[in-house]
Amino acid sequence: MVLYGTTVESFYITTPIYYVNDAPHIGHAYTMVIADSLARVHRMMGDDVYFITGTDEHGKKVAEAASSHGVSTLQWTDQMSVRFRNAWAELNISNNEFIRTTEPRHYSTVQNFFSTIKENGYIFKGTFKGLYCVGCESYKKENELDNGKCREHGRIVEEMEEENYFFDLPALESRLLEWYENNPEAVVPVTKRNEAVGFIKGGLEPVSITRTSLTWGVPVPWDSDHVFYVWSDALVNYLTAIGYGSDASRMDRLWPSVHHVIGKDILRFHCVWWPAMCMAAGIDPPHQILVHGWLLVSGEKMSKSKLNQIAPGDLTNDFGVDAVRYHLLREVPLGADGDFSYEGMTERYNADLANNLGNLLSRVVTVVNSKCDSISPPPPAISKELPIDNLEATHTPSLTSEQADMTYTPEQIVQQLAIRTTQATTEAMNAWGQHLPHNALRETLQLVREVNSALEATEPWRKEPGSEVNEILGSALEALRIISLLVAPAMPETATAIWNGIGLSGSPETERLPDALEWGMYPGGIHLSKVAPLFPRIKKS
Ligand code: MSP
Repeated sequence: MVLYGTTVESFYITTPIYYVNDAPHIGHAYTMVIADSLARVHRMMGDDVYFITGTDEHGKKVAEAASSHGVSTLQWTDQMSVRFRNAWAELNISNNEFIRTTEPRHYSTVQNFFSTIKENGYIFKGTFKGLYCVGCESYKKENELDNGKCREHGRIVEEMEEENYFFDLPALESRLLEWYENNPEAVVPVTKRNEAVGFIKGGLEPVSITRTSLTWGVPVPWDSDHVFYVWSDALVNYLTAIGYGSDASRMDRLWPSVHHVIGKDILRFHCVWWPAMCMAAGIDPPHQILVHGWLLVSGEKMSKSKLNQIAPGDLTNDFGVDAVRYHLLREVPLGADGDFSYEGMTERYNADLANNLGNLLSRVVTVVNSKCDSISPPPPAISKELPIDNLEATHTPSLTSEQADMTYTPEQIVQQLAIRTTQATTEAMNAWGQHLPHNALRETLQLVREVNSALEATEPWRKEPGSEVNEILGSALEALRIISLLVAPAMPETATAIWNGIGLSGSPETERLPDALEWGMYPGGIHLSKVAPLFPRIKKS
């Protein structure tokens, strides 16, 4: 089925699995809400969605965190994994599964996957000497350091020399380039795709995939002195969750549609190593990798290692879950970095959610209560197109002189409201289909502004009850129904509150997109009760 540019049937979506060396922060929450909104929109499209996240529990960094807290590694990972699980539940993340890399099923999948790669001739033994950053859990080249320290973590790198098993990445160079050539959207946005292709063209080196210097890892089945390197084991979680090696029909159903959501810092692992490892194991490389930028606080990446973190719970306590989800998705276009600040969030909350979306619902319901005996009118049909391409022009303090010369009748404004709603719906759905939540929300909130402008231009609250008031309110209610469907993937609770606020039962998330977006489906004739403000204004501190 082709829907708004995306071919979909099954939709398998993953997030990175999080290191358990410290607590979840809003940089992680950013990755989570992107993936969650995409999972939700695909469920609404009727797809067979499978959404996973989890924790990455091996490696030196985690072992060090456990010992510095005086507990066993297993105790530590048990405790920390629960913190991630709880943080995502509080953020209303709808993952179907939470995977831990310390689970026995993961051990056997990793062993099975790399044994296949070895049988296929892509693994050899050698000695590796290099500078290792425990923060990144990877080797660094001299030119990636500042005064002997890792640029990202500010940590002194350690000189390590080990006998390792290597994955023969250079042997797959031409297949990787061919894959990128044939799949222009394998990595999005295009800037990140170019970065990945640049890495490959810059020359590939074998990847050391095992360690002898630590025991905290998945044992290598063909050599008991080695455990797998944390990144080799971690990537395989995407296969463990859907039954690689144990459930062929599940693999066949879900793997071809896999979408990995990742941050730009782990691009090389996902966009170079991982597709190559899949090829070497004889399975298809991932269908798509969506790469987002960083959330910065005062220009610095928020990270556990730097401790300038903000816990997701701190923000949801102050703003509410949906407002945090909305802000993370709306603030930063996919792929770009965004500066996070409390002030910026307060401003956007008040402008977009309190004054715009929340205000629209309460004013419409209030006027239905006062002018229509609380019984909602149905929307008028769309009959003709009129030359108003932006309804804000009907009520904007800063009209251009050309716009100011135009005057519109209430009937024209109502008609154009319907037309603008269908246009904005198409734009927003195209953006959701292209996995661009930022654009989808921008279009939707623009529509909300236009509906508010149409109400201000027609002022139903000043008019006598009658057909004109009914038509204005009927269109606004229909626009609200459609807006509720469009914001549901990002703000599920708010969407349900709008849906119920205009008298519809159940939740917009059980509706089917795109059919439910058709203009004219709001039935009208429903008794509307007063609604509580969706987003009470927040005072700037
Ligand atoms: N364990 C690895 C991933 C293995 S996936 C097979 C890892 N974990 S992490 O906990 O360090 O980071 C997980 C994700 O959080 C990454 O996508 C990373 O980009 C993201 N973020 C961490 N800090 C972030 C910001 N400040 N801003 C946005 N995303 C951030 O890497």
